[in-house]
Amino acid sequence: MATLTDPAFQLLLARLFSDAERTQREFHEERRALLAEGFQQGSPPYAAAARKAHLAITPETGELLYLLARLREARTIVEFGTSFGVSTLHLAAALRDNGGGRLIATETEPTKAEAARRTLAEAGVDDLVEILLGDARETLRAKRPRPVDLLFLDGPGHLYVDVLKLLEPDLSPTAVIVADNAEARGYRTYLETHDHYVSVSFGTRVEVTLLSD
Ligand SMILES: C[S@@+](CC[C@H](N)C(=O)[O-])C[C@H]1O[C@@H](n2cnc3c(N)ncnc32)[C@H](O)[C@@H]1O
Repeated sequence: MATLTDPAFQLLLARLFSDAERTQREFHEERRALLAEGFQQGSPPYAAAARKAHLAITPETGELLYLLARLREARTIVEFGTSFGVSTLHLAAALRDNGGGRLIATETEPTKAEAARRTLAEAGVDDLVEILLGDARETLRAKRPRPVDLLFLDGPGHLYVDVLKLLEPDLSPTAVIVADNAEARGYRTYLETHDHYVSVSFGTRVEVTLLSD
């Protein structure tokens, strides 16, 4: 049986998606109140509220990540923005079902990284994942897995181009790049103006990109 469709794995995902929905709702309410009080994005109370929110992918995006990683027979995956590990679980499940591999995940928030590690252990896929704690632009510079078969971008969108540029020399010729919240300023423009990329948008949020020949 595939890891993704294993009933215990599905139960764990259902729990995480339900937690994600709740924390997303709470974060939106808290954010509205904080902004009304004059606290800016990045202020300590705003950051404290964001720390509790999963800000996770949708179940459909999780399935898409799993399928793409399987189709590309990915063995080396990099994730920018792990949070509580919802996307990480889908990618790790694909690695397991591809026969093994390595997922380098990145997260700045220690409490989120710790929670993700616990969840990955609970799912039995922690042997496939290393979570680098800190700014991905630094941690990925120090630890560069190659060749990268799949790159998942799901951190702050204004950093997508920086992270992609950093990893471009390490991308496998058959690599697939997936970005959530791809409407982030500058990202789609960067892809459009570099003709070695072939890119397709799924709705407003998700962008799937391949390297052209
Ligand atoms: C949208 S959430 C990721 C959601 C996750 N992929 C999931 O599906 O559950 C973005 C995460 O990126 C983290 N982050 C912010 N800046 C970062 C950076 N410079 N490097 C790595 N992670 C970062 C945030 O703490 C946040 O947890």
